[in-house]
Amino acid sequence: MHKVIRCVNRGFLECVVSPKYLLRPKVFKSSSAAQAPKVCVVGSGPAGFYVSQQLIKAYPKIEVDLYERLPVPFGLVRFGVAPDHPEVKNVINTFTKTAKSGRLRFVGNVNLGTDVILSELRESYHAVVLTYGAEQDREFGIPGEELPNVVSARRFVGWYNGLPADSHLKVNLETESAVIFGNGNVAVDVARILLTPVDILKKTDITEHSLAVLSQSRLKKVIMVGRRGPLNVAFTIKEIREMLKLPECKTVMDPNAFAGIREVIEGLPRPRRRLMELVCQAALDPPPPSWSDAKRTFEPLFLRSPLEFLRCSQSDRLSGVRLAVNKLSDDRAVPTGVEECLECGLALRSIGYKGIKAGKDIPFDDEKGTVLNNNGQVDGAKGLYCSGWVATGPTGVILTTMSNSFEVGHTIVQHMETGLVDISMNKPGYEAVSQILLKKGIQTVSFSDWEKIDEEEKKRGEAVGKPREKIVSVEEMLAIAAR
Ligand SMILES: Cc1cc2nc3c(=O)[nH]c(=O)nc-3n(C[C@H](O)[C@H](O)[C@H](O)COP(=O)(O)OP(=O)(O)OC[C@H]3O[C@@H](n4cnc5c(N)ncnc54)[C@H](O)[C@@H]3O)c2cc1C
Ligand SMILES: NC(=O)c1ccc[n+]([C@@H]2O[C@H](COP(=O)([O-])OP(=O)(O)OC[C@H]3O[C@@H](n4cnc5c(N)ncnc54)[C@H](OP(=O)(O)O)[C@@H]3O)[C@@H](O)[C@H]2O)c1
Repeated sequence: MHKVIRCVNRGFLECVVSPKYLLRPKVFKSSSAAQAPKVCVVGSGPAGFYVSQQLIKAYPKIEVDLYERLPVPFGLVRFGVAPDHPEVKNVINTFTKTAKSGRLRFVGNVNLGTDVILSELRESYHAVVLTYGAEQDREFGIPGEELPNVVSARRFVGWYNGLPADSHLKVNLETESAVIFGNGNVAVDVARILLTPVDILKKTDITEHSLAVLSQSRLKKVIMVGRRGPLNVAFTIKEIREMLKLPECKTVMDPNAFAGIREVIEGLPRPRRRLMELVCQAALDPPPPSWSDAKRTFEPLFLRSPLEFLRCSQSDRLSGVRLAVNKLSDDRAVPTGVEECLECGLALRSIGYKGIKAGKDIPFDDEKGTVLNNNGQVDGAKGLYCSGWVATGPTGVILTTMSNSFEVGHTIVQHMETGLVDISMNKPGYEAVSQILLKKGIQTVSFSDWEKIDEEEKKRGEAVGKPREKIVSVEEMLAIAAR
């Protein structure tokens, strides 16, 4: 049986989650193990924390080590969730409780694939859980995609959110028009950050370097291009409502794209119907008075796919994009043969993230970008599990990831209890891995080291009226951790 619960995350007000994993997990008594079973989890985003939480709640004797590539925890909650959505980041309080429970060891600055490899982890632990997310993004593979100012939305998000690898991204906002491809919630996040008045953004934890560029922005229009029609949008109602209410900004859509749509939305399931009613209202009804003096425009455009990013004749600069006009056939976008060009000086590709293989011995589906698995159990590898985006693919909000990770945690505990995972033999756990890391000269970061970084960021933020000023250099993070 499933239960509808209220969800604090933006994106879905209500989500269906099996109550079995949300309430008190069954507490297993350790049976045959001479010592506590040792599990390691790789990746400290929501999936890593929720799997760990489930394991330590269900199994009193278990030891869980959580390895993270960066010196700082929380994955996309820190580096993905938009700076103007601070309430979503409240899940960090739960993660912190888990980390400080005395039952979990956070080991930051350790990269699976280089600092330690999977076979070393598998030798050291009774079970290994891969929760390392989806760190790349999908590309179009069309001419001009390599031009300056044709930017991946994933990297743009990393840039404004302080991801060290993206802190030097070059973004030029000396242009009046930007185009975003894809119409999921990441595309909406990016559009909102580009269109929100800087006075609002500067009170958030957005990075100082992006704020400096955004405050010089000449952007007047952001066009969000979907390859399919209005009925196929991937964004959710809360996110689009926020765009419709954005200060100093109006939303404009071509009414012709909505021909016949109001007639079909009646028959849609309720959440989709409510979303479509709102989108139709914005496209077809008289605009609210507040839009009359808007300085900027948000323009969702439908049934278009990019064919080529165009360069200026005189330089390497992006001048526009050539588009194929599509029609829908069985809900799929099919080119009509008609083409058109859109002028723009910035183009962002927001067509989905993609997981990568963090070692040659990980069974992996390269096309989907996920670890090959059956409900979290990695194919053909006893004692190896995965959850979150690296297991399911890059869709779903934090609550979806929580539900999936609780289930995988539950499966692991069951497998230990029933002997499917052999916990009768002693395993060295962190004792062995710490030796490997020591030999390689890797400085690890504990949770209390992270708290020093956290404190420093909050102190720097306070000085400029922000909740925190994120430190974007790994070296600087490590120096603070070592104090
Ligand atoms: C831009 C953006 C905004 C979002 N906003 C919201 C929102 O507002 N509300 C909401 O509910 N959901 C939101 N989501 C969805 C939510 O972030 C995901 O559901 C969730 O973060 C997935 O969790 P995960 O643990 O699988 O992956 P991640 O959060 O990506 O965590 C993976 C972790 O693994 C680490 N890692 C990667 N490679 C290695 C390695 N080789 N070795 C060790 N560690 C490694 C990473 O550094 C990271 O910390 C957003 C997603 C994106 C992309
Ligand atoms: N505020 C929030 O709650 C929030 C914020 C950000 C992200 N998230 C969540 O994070 C997850 C990932 O978000 P996302 O926006 O990256 O992914 P998404 O929701 O899957 O959207 C991807 C978009 O890319 C389009 N696309 C994919 N391949 C394409 C191609 N080859 N050509 C043109 N368009 C293409 C898709 O169109 P088609 O539909 O036609 O395939 C879709 O519009 C989602 O579950 C999202 O809800 C939530």
